[in-house]
Amino acid sequence: MRRSVLVFLLVTITILTFLLHTVSTLISLLLEDASSDAIQKSELPAPNSTLLSSRPQLIPKIIHQTYINNSIPAQWLAAQQSCIDLHQDYEYNLWTDERSLEFITKEYPWFLSTFVGYKHPIQRADSIRYFVLAHYGGVYIDLDDGCKRRLDPLLSYNAFVRRTIPTGISNDVMGAIPQHPFFLRVIESLQGANRKWVLPYITIMASTGPLFLSVVWKKWMGEHSDLLQDGSPNEWKGRVRVLMPDEYKLHSWSFFEIYSGSSWHGKDARLIFWMGKNWLLLTAAGTILVLTVGLCLWWVYGRLLLLGKQRGFLAGGSLNIGARSTHASRSSPGRRTAKQGLPLWRKWTVSDRKPSYELVEQHDA
Ligand SMILES: *[C@@H]1O[C@H](CO)[C@@H](O)[C@H](O)[C@H]1NC(C)=O
Ligand SMILES: *[C@@H]1O[C@H](CO)[C@@H](O)[C@H](O)[C@H]1NC(C)=O
Repeated sequence: MRRSVLVFLLVTITILTFLLHTVSTLISLLLEDASSDAIQKSELPAPNSTLLSSRPQLIPKIIHQTYINNSIPAQWLAAQQSCIDLHQDYEYNLWTDERSLEFITKEYPWFLSTFVGYKHPIQRADSIRYFVLAHYGGVYIDLDDGCKRRLDPLLSYNAFVRRTIPTGISNDVMGAIPQHPFFLRVIESLQGANRKWVLPYITIMASTGPLFLSVVWKKWMGEHSDLLQDGSPNEWKGRVRVLMPDEYKLHSWSFFEIYSGSSWHGKDARLIFWMGKNWLLLTAAGTILVLTVGLCLWWVYGRLLLLGKQRGFLAGGSLNIGARSTHASRSSPGRRTAKQGLPLWRKWTVSDRKPSYELVEQHDA
């Protein structure tokens, strides 16, 4: 009996460790506040500041946006125009479905089958932005993000992404120099992340969306923590700076303002946004799921063991009594005592609905 407990515990611990390992990046994401890479308020001049910036411009002056075709829906026209108007000297690129397909076919043929094979159009809209940033560099902006001030101060970093609350980063505003190592890693990781999950929302989030990007980002930081802590004046090129919520949209000095509607098409969008905003809840739910799986394994294992015992007795001919007396034993006063005599772990696994097992156990004890 002792040995089987040990086996059970080992199997359970192995499975739980595996499950916990798979959610560990999510849990560490929850604890990541990005403070070490945050773009500090003091680094950014005010929108109409007379301060002459001496910082170099690294990111090329290119704005990328995506949509199905050139007919931008009315609710985003103002947002799109606000970015174009403020950046007359920037190159403007609208990546339509047709243009995106041509680009991937020509420049990244190894990704074409994955790109075409994506079940949800949003996955193509998500992935194309990583490719154009890795390829040309520049700043990607979602169509529902309007520009409130010029992006110039953000061009002095090698790469930046946007922080989301309570955790992780989003892919709605991102900037990078061409061939930035982080975005190269992102495009390399897309095929490995192309898995189907039960819910389409999770599939989109985890294969190409903000969850995917956040996981790659978290791993990237983990792998290069030595370079990041180095604090040398020659800043590591692979560092990804993080635009914080205040600078993103909340204030007069923020870079963007959100126009109505979401650039994700259809009803899915609302749920995806909801999920993006409720990581904490989802991760807690995941942890509960892991624990539930553990308890179920525990229960099933106990059941199987008892069943095995029962079979053994049937073969020996002595369980017939137990099996027939199932009903009677339910009210038997000896039942509780029988259960008390069991080892603790067996007590937990023995259900009150099958008292016949307990009779077996009585023999066993
Ligand atoms: C900066 O100047 C422009 C043009 O003068 C003006 O429209 C805008 O409101 C100013 N922005 C802020 C944040 O003061
Ligand atoms: C662009 O796409 C929208 C949405 O699918 C469609 O309604 C519209 O007809 C398309 N416009 C053109 C010019 O193809």
